[in-house]
Amino acid sequence: MFRSLKPVLGFILAGIICLNATAQNKLPVYLDENKPIEERVEDALSRMTLEEKVAMCHAQSKFSSAGVPRLGIPENWATDGPHGIRPEVLWDEWDQAGWTNDSCIAFPALTCLAATWNKDMSLLYGKSIGEEARYRNKNILLGPGVNIYRTPLNGRNFEYMGEDPFLASKMVVPYIHGVQANGVAACVKHFALNNQEIARHTVNVNVDDRALYEIYLPAFKASVQEGQAWAIMGAYNKYKGQWACHNQYLLNDILRGEWGFDGVVVSDWGGVNNTKQAIYNGLDMEFGSWTDGLSEGASNAYENYYLAKPFLKLLQSGEVKEEEVDKKVRNILRLAFRTTMNTKRPWGSFGTPEHAAAGRKIAEEGIVLLQNKNNTLPIDLSKTKRILVVGENAIKPMTVGGGSSSLKAKYEVAPWDGIVKRMGTQADIKYARGYVGDPTSKYNGVVLKRDLTEPRSAEELIAEATQLAKESDLVIFIGGLNKSNNQDCEGHDRKHLELPYNQDKVITELYKANKNLVVVNISGNAVAMPWVNEVPAIVQSWYNGTESGTALASILAGDANPSGKLPFTFPVKLDDNSAHKLGEYPGKEQVTYNEGIFVGYRWTDKEKIKPLFPFGHGLSYTTFAYGKVTADKKGISQSDKITFSVSVKNTGSRDGAEIVQLYISDLKSSLPRPVKELKGFEKVYLKAGEEKTVSFTVDKSALSFFDDKKHDWVAEAGTFEAIVAASATDIKGKVSFDLK
Ligand code: GLC
Repeated sequence: MFRSLKPVLGFILAGIICLNATAQNKLPVYLDENKPIEERVEDALSRMTLEEKVAMCHAQSKFSSAGVPRLGIPENWATDGPHGIRPEVLWDEWDQAGWTNDSCIAFPALTCLAATWNKDMSLLYGKSIGEEARYRNKNILLGPGVNIYRTPLNGRNFEYMGEDPFLASKMVVPYIHGVQANGVAACVKHFALNNQEIARHTVNVNVDDRALYEIYLPAFKASVQEGQAWAIMGAYNKYKGQWACHNQYLLNDILRGEWGFDGVVVSDWGGVNNTKQAIYNGLDMEFGSWTDGLSEGASNAYENYYLAKPFLKLLQSGEVKEEEVDKKVRNILRLAFRTTMNTKRPWGSFGTPEHAAAGRKIAEEGIVLLQNKNNTLPIDLSKTKRILVVGENAIKPMTVGGGSSSLKAKYEVAPWDGIVKRMGTQADIKYARGYVGDPTSKYNGVVLKRDLTEPRSAEELIAEATQLAKESDLVIFIGGLNKSNNQDCEGHDRKHLELPYNQDKVITELYKANKNLVVVNISGNAVAMPWVNEVPAIVQSWYNGTESGTALASILAGDANPSGKLPFTFPVKLDDNSAHKLGEYPGKEQVTYNEGIFVGYRWTDKEKIKPLFPFGHGLSYTTFAYGKVTADKKGISQSDKITFSVSVKNTGSRDGAEIVQLYISDLKSSLPRPVKELKGFEKVYLKAGEEKTVSFTVDKSALSFFDDKKHDWVAEAGTFEAIVAASATDIKGKVSFDLK
C-alpha cells in the first residue's frame, strides 16, 4: 500500500516544485524541456542522493527499475520483445499476470522483415511495434535482435536478421527510428557474439578482430551511429573471458569509446555475475539476476542484486568513487528525458487493424518463393477445384512459444484459416494432419483455441493424407519447424538440419500420390530438402504473426506477387556451413570461430559450394531482365564516390518487385577477403513491361576491409568489380573500376 503511494506523493511533490518554480517563473532545469538535455542531466544528478542513484541501476521487479519519485522521475519499464509486446507478468515472476487488456498484434519474426529487403517495411514495423509499446506504457522495448546467422542450428535465428552484416545493418536502422519516434527506447540485442543458444550463459567466444569488426559488430554499430539507439542489451556469453554484460572491450572500448554510444547498457536477464566488473565495465542497468534473495520475496531480492546493496556499500566506504555511479545515472537520466519525461511524445495505439495490416504487408513482402516449376503457383482457382492442405503447421499457432519473444496475440490467422477464407468459396478444401509435431496447447497462460492432440499413429496419418492427395487437384503441404525446444526456440539449438517429425517421408509419400504438390516451409532457419528435385513448388514462409495465414493465402492465390529474398543461405547439408566444417560448434567452455570472416555466402563462394538455395534468392510470378552494368567513372580516389547503374525490366505479364543486389569484389588484397560482399540493395517495383534504372553510389567504405594490425578500416588501391545480382549466385553483370 505504502509503496504504491510513494510515486503519487512524489509526483505531487514534483508538481509543487513546478508550481513553485513557475510562480517564480523558473522551472528547475531538469524539468525544463527547453534546456539542453545534458544540462538537465547534470541538474537532476545534482539533486539525487546516493541511495537514489544506486536504486536506478538495478531492477525493482521482473521488468522495471526505480525512478526518483521525490523528483518526479518515473520508473523505467522494459518489455519483450522484437515481434510484439509481451503480456504483463507478475511483479516478480515470469508467470503472466492474467490481464485482459494486453493482447497484442503479433508482427512477423525479424527473419521475415530481413527477407523483405525493404527499408520502408522496417520503418513501418518499428513505428507499429513502437506504438504498441508506448500504449502499454513501456519505455524500453527489448528488441530488435541483430546477432549474425553463423549456424543454421541456432535456436534464436528467427529473432535476427540473417547472415550478412550489410543487410542487417541497413534493415535494423529504420526499425529503431520507428520505435523511438514513439518515445520508446529500442534496446538492440544481444551485444555481442550470442550466435548460439547452447551454453549461452557460460561459453567464451574466441573470434579474430577481422571477423568481429567485419561480421559480428556492424549491425550494432549501425544501430548506434545511424539508428541512434537509446539502449543496448549485453549478451549472456563471454568474450575475452569477461561476460558481455560487463565487458571492458565491448562496452567501454568499442561501444562507448569507438562508437560514441550515449544510451544505456542493460544486462540480459541474469547476465550480471560480478559487482566490480558491473561497476567498471560499462553496465548501467542490471535486470533479472538470480539472487537467492528471490526466495525471500521481491523486496529483499532486489536489494541483493550486484548493483544494489553491494554497490552502495562500496560507494559508502569510499572504495568506489561516486563518479562511477554518476556515469551510470547520467545514461539512465538521458533515457528518462528521451522517453518517460518527454511530454511531447505520442500516446501510441494497441491491437489495431492498422497494426494487423502492417504485419500482413510485411509478411507478404517477406515470404520467399524458392521454386516454381510448371508455374504451379499462383493457384489458378478457375481450374483447381479440389485442394488438400496437409501438415501441422497449417493449424499450429506460432505467435506462442520460442522463449522470451512469445506473445499473447489478439488473434492469429493460421495458414489453414487464411487459405479457407481466401479460397473456400472457389474450391473444395480438405485438411489432413499428415504428422504430429508438438500438440502443446498451453503457453504460460495462453490457451490455444484449437486442440492439437492427435491419437492416430504416424502410419494412419500418412495413409489418410496420401489417400486424400490422390483425390485432389492440388496438395499444399505446410510444415517446417516450430517454436518448441530444439526447434526455433530460445535456450536450445536444433540438433540437425533435417526437418523434424518425419516430414520428409510425408512429403515424399504425398508426391508419389500427387505430383501437383506445393511445400510451404514455415521456419526461422534453413532446413534440408532431400525432395527439392521432385517437389515443383516450394515457398519459404516465416513466423508471420497475427495475419500469417492471410498473407500466405494471398501469395498462394496470387493476390500478392512474392518479392522476398533469403537473408541467409540454405546449405544442402550441415557440412556445407563453415561453422560446422571449420569452427567448433557448439564448443564447451570455449567456442572458436575458426571460419573467421567466411560466414554464409562468403564461405560457399570461397569453397565453390553450391547451396540448396543461395543468400538473396527469391522468385516472382513475373520475370525480370537486366541491362548492362555501367559505372560513371573508370576509377576513384580515396575521397571520391562512384555510381553504378543498371536497367531492370519487368518482362512478364504482371506487376512485381525485384531486389537488385550490389556486391563488391576486391580482386587483389594484402589480406584474405571474401570473393564478394553485399554493399547495396534496392527493391524496385515494376509494372508489367515497365523498365527502370537502378543506381548505387558508393565510396571507399564499400571497398574497405578491417586491418586488425592497424586496427582500422583500409581501402587498398587496386582493381575492384561491382557485381549486380539477383542473388549471391545469380550474377546479372559486372563492371571493373580502380581505386587509386
Ligand atoms: C531473455 C533473453 C532476452 C530477453 C530477456 C527478458 O533471457 O535473452 O532476449 O529480452 O531475457 O525476457
